Amino acid sequence: MSFSSIFRCLLCNIPKKESRGEKVPIPSGQYEIEGKNPADSTDSQESIDSASQFTSPDESNITTGENIAEIPIEKSNRALIVAAKGAYSFADLPFPTLAHEHEVVISNRATGLNPIDYKSVDYNFCLPEFPWVTGREMAGVVEMVGAGVRDVKVGDHVWTSTYYRDRRAGCFQQYITVPAHTVLPLPPSTSFTSAASLGVAGLTAAMTLWHWLEVPFPPPSANSPPPANSENQEQEQEFLLIWGGGTVTGQYALQLAALSHLHIIAITSSHTAPLARSLGAVVIERDNKTNTQIISEIKSIAGDNITRAIDLVGPKTASACLQVLSKNQRALFAPLAMMGTEDEVPGNVQVVTVEMKRFVLDAENRAYALELNRLVGQGRVQVPGIEAVEGGLENVVLGLERLKKGEMGGRKMVVVF
Ligand SMILES: NC(=O)c1ccc[n+]([C@@H]2O[C@H](COP(=O)([O-])OP(=O)(O)OC[C@H]3O[C@@H](n4cnc5c(N)ncnc54)[C@H](OP(=O)(O)O)[C@@H]3O)[C@@H](O)[C@H]2O)c1
Repeated sequence: MSFSSIFRCLLCNIPKKESRGEKVPIPSGQYEIEGKNPADSTDSQESIDSASQFTSPDESNITTGENIAEIPIEKSNRALIVAAKGAYSFADLPFPTLAHEHEVVISNRATGLNPIDYKSVDYNFCLPEFPWVTGREMAGVVEMVGAGVRDVKVGDHVWTSTYYRDRRAGCFQQYITVPAHTVLPLPPSTSFTSAASLGVAGLTAAMTLWHWLEVPFPPPSANSPPPANSENQEQEQEFLLIWGGGTVTGQYALQLAALSHLHIIAITSSHTAPLARSLGAVVIERDNKTNTQIISEIKSIAGDNITRAIDLVGPKTASACLQVLSKNQRALFAPLAMMGTEDEVPGNVQVVTVEMKRFVLDAENRAYALELNRLVGQGRVQVPGIEAVEGGLENVVLGLERLKKGEMGGRKMVVVF
């Protein structure tokens, strides 16, 4: 049965009501995104549940929240729907079916909110079509597994990180359907709420460092000696620069880099500076300073020895990162919050494109999530402070509006079901 015909069937004889499920208008503004652009939504890849079975939001007659008791099916899948650019609603979809035997259905207990979630709806990118379901990370209980799934079983407590091109994997719904290799057990002593921050910020930091920036995994235990070249060579020290060390992603990156004995310089506000220092960075506070002043402070600390950099703020700070990277050594740069096209990249600098979809598309990248899980489970990586929003799907839009105001001060917003 197609998505549109299901909507019609669910609405049989149900009068449309005004309810909490009304569309919420989203104001427009400038966007900056995770190395992707609006053109992504029209790229050549097919979404997993293909466009042909869907209709426009008007045709689909999206249900409102208060109709849920009247739905004549046993187990429905409540979802926050992106009905059109800047407009949300609620729908009761059927319980998912598996597309192949290596898939897992997870019942949502907590979902992390990220800047990309509202930016994609405000500016209509990373939305292959309407209606769509967004949300990229969650933790919950395994509800169903395919016949070919070995390491995951019904009832397991797990987290996952998803790819936006599969509507069934959008985390703003009750049941999320994902490939088994993307499903990880909750680390010991980690709640659903905390684990819901691992799929985007945690895994992005992990893969950026270990995969794209070629940082070795940390030693197996906290007592292992540091690698021979990380100490006693003060003159030769190489540095990692994290511009935006107070962001949630920056906090994970700081901790992981410190475990691999990197020397780190972080740019933060005075508000998040103590946190970044406590996580192992030399901090430059940015309050009331121009980027030129900050660049000069970075150079006075690191000289020509910044060989890796991550930018988590935007095009201007990405440009500033390029200015402080080593001129004479090979250097790697990950602009995670967009980079200007006019920036000149010196020959010794490699700008890496962090594509988190590789976690979903390449099963071998599970190794990074397993390593992250191990470090969190051992207590060697702390989950950032969480701001939990109770109320499940009903309050996702409220949470996104608060996130948009930019008042998180280094805390992670998680909606709890
Ligand atoms: N490519 C990807 O796959 C990917 C994945 C994850 C995140 N990202 C991107 O990375 C960025 C950060 O994401 P997030 O979720 O970690 O963010 P977040 O925690 O929501 O970021 C908020 C923090 O940004 C810091 N900040 C704001 N302006 C700053 C500035 N001018 N300089 C330094 N820090 C500043 C603030 O900390 P202070 O108090 O220190 O200013 C604030 O606490 C976003 O643009 C996001 O889209 C991309």
